[in-house]
Amino acid sequence: MTNDSKPWLVRIPEVFDGVTEEVLKRTGGTLRRQLGQEYHLIDVANAEAVQESEVTKFLLWNLPIEHMWPCDPRKMDLFIEKAAQTLAKKFGSRKPQALFIGQLNPGSPDRYYRGVASNLRGRALQLFEGLSVSEVEAQDPGKETLFCLVGKEGLFCGMQSPRAANGLYPGGSKFIDQSSPDTVSRAGAKIAEALHYILMYRKPMAEGSHWVELGACPGGMTAELLKRGQRVTAIDRAPLDKRLQSKPGVKFILAEVATFVPPQGTIYDAVLSDLNGPPGESIGHVIRLSASLRQGGLVVFTLKVPRVENVDGASRIFDTIVATAEKAGLNLFAQTHLTYNRHEFTLFFEKA
Ligand SMILES: C[S@@+](CC[C@H](N)C(=O)[O-])C[C@H]1O[C@@H](n2cnc3c(N)ncnc32)[C@H](O)[C@@H]1O
Repeated sequence: MTNDSKPWLVRIPEVFDGVTEEVLKRTGGTLRRQLGQEYHLIDVANAEAVQESEVTKFLLWNLPIEHMWPCDPRKMDLFIEKAAQTLAKKFGSRKPQALFIGQLNPGSPDRYYRGVASNLRGRALQLFEGLSVSEVEAQDPGKETLFCLVGKEGLFCGMQSPRAANGLYPGGSKFIDQSSPDTVSRAGAKIAEALHYILMYRKPMAEGSHWVELGACPGGMTAELLKRGQRVTAIDRAPLDKRLQSKPGVKFILAEVATFVPPQGTIYDAVLSDLNGPPGESIGHVIRLSASLRQGGLVVFTLKVPRVENVDGASRIFDTIVATAEKAGLNLFAQTHLTYNRHEFTLFFEKA
């Protein structure tokens, strides 16, 4: 730890357990302690190593910690009142655009800290004057928000823009309910979360936008796109879930992606690929079909990597795919590991 090192909270998804130590080391950070489910409180000398280094893609979310109160809130008298007063005193004059409080252990069946997060936010909002934003998705992604995380280890807070933190919610996860019997597949949550994530970079897709979706079946992602008023040409060599076949807005093509030729004159607004073949082949299909993508059109690409066993192995695949896409005029503007991703990253490109 150096004299000017700062505490930083980084969230590393559980699927990267095998490389967590290596990722932390490459941020230049020294581990102080592990918190909650996936959080690590580290001391870093150089913020850029956290936010711009090659390991950034392994960090689901990050926050410089400017105020912490390590304690068990359950055992602390008047925790909410004292914490809210301190937040207002420490951060009020810095005028954050918003205040959001999440849990260090959101998956826990213990609802206690969920209540603490919500009651603390409620009380703190009474003390802060005129925060301009109250809805998560209404945040200006480039302006500072006061984010806090709370759990049995205490309260950890700091100000940072959502884009620098890599997410609009504290912790970076948007909860997507998959319990409905209408849920077609787990993949639906990935596109739902991806569309939320890119609000930090682009306006939402206009109603009626036309997507070409590669590797669409059984159709969880298609269902989410249709729900949002999008039109979808869905291609797969496996069948689409029956519930989607007659839905308005979807055209299903049962075929090998390589054989699909867009009808003459078709211009898509977006390409979505969740193909489960080798990534080099999948990006090849995306590039071929991007000839029919409008300028500025969006590509959402799930990059599936083998079980991540070292940082360099995954980074090499990542860099090769990005370089191939960029050579073909698709510019990477964001990448992340979504909460609902397994051994995969989600990459976002725009057609130059
Ligand atoms: C991970 S699954 C996609 C899940 C889907 N996105 C959803 O929302 O339910 C991958 C799909 O890619 C399809 N696939 C892989 N390679 C393909 C190819 N060359 N041509 C057509 N479909 C392909 C598989 O049949 C499989 O349905």
